[in-house]
Amino acid sequence: MNIILLGPPGAGKGTQSDYLRDAYKLTKLATGDMLRAAVKAGTELGKQADAVMKAGQLVSDDIMIGIIREAIGDCPNGFILDGFPRTTGQAVALDAMLADLDKKIDFVIELAVDDAALVERIAGRFSCKQCGAGYHDKFRRRIHEGTCDACGSTEFIRREDDRAETVAKRLEQYHAMTAPLLPHYKAHGALRTVDGMADIAEVTAAINRVITNGASDAA
Ligand code: AP5
Ligand code: MG
Ligand code: ZN
Repeated sequence: MNIILLGPPGAGKGTQSDYLRDAYKLTKLATGDMLRAAVKAGTELGKQADAVMKAGQLVSDDIMIGIIREAIGDCPNGFILDGFPRTTGQAVALDAMLADLDKKIDFVIELAVDDAALVERIAGRFSCKQCGAGYHDKFRRRIHEGTCDACGSTEFIRREDDRAETVAKRLEQYHAMTAPLLPHYKAHGALRTVDGMADIAEVTAAINRVITNGASDAA
């Protein structure tokens, strides 16, 4: 099974794609995570991407398409794309890659969330420095304050691009560059919209219903 998760910054793509990876044994291809790993490792790609990400802009299609092309062939049980495609150019390139590999997208799941809620979600987000598990000051707290539920680490990080000015730019980019993909996938017949304003567990349940029945909850 191959899934694309689409939605604005803070919609819950990372949260839900971690769940899908574990529940359905899929390979998670999260381009933002890949870029952050490259920045941390100080690779040539990381050096190029760092300033672009801090400005809330998009890294070039050529680079992003190259990254996905390298990764997508190696997903034995299928994949979840989180953060790709993000432009029409990336979507067209993905269609061509999949045709070459004789693969198809089963579901494009849109997490629909109001812009106002996104700002609060992003402002409260942090993750475990050790294992990457994601948390929120209000919406997803740790079982024991100060300790990661998944690995027991006591070190946590916040993303550099989560400052308010950068978030506004990222949202603008989403509406200008990525939202136009929704009609592309609607025409494909693969688009399913889920109410991303609900609680984390309810969103997960709605995604499971999409996978099981093929139907959307929302219009
Ligand atoms: P990327 O890392 O993809 O960031 P994004 O799309 O802006 O999305 P986020 O990761 O911020 O949000 P999310 O939807 O994953 O939400 P999360 O689950 O964490 O991209 C970063 C940058 O990399 C881009 O700006 C660009 O520069 C570059 N880039 C990446 N891919 C690219 C591409 N293909 N082309 C060009 N450039 C690219 O949830 C957010 C918070 O809310 C968490 O704390 C979570 O606990 C909480 N939460 C989640 N769900 C709920 C809920 N239902 N209710 C309450 N709280 C919730
Ligand atoms: Mg994410
Ligand atoms: Zn951890």
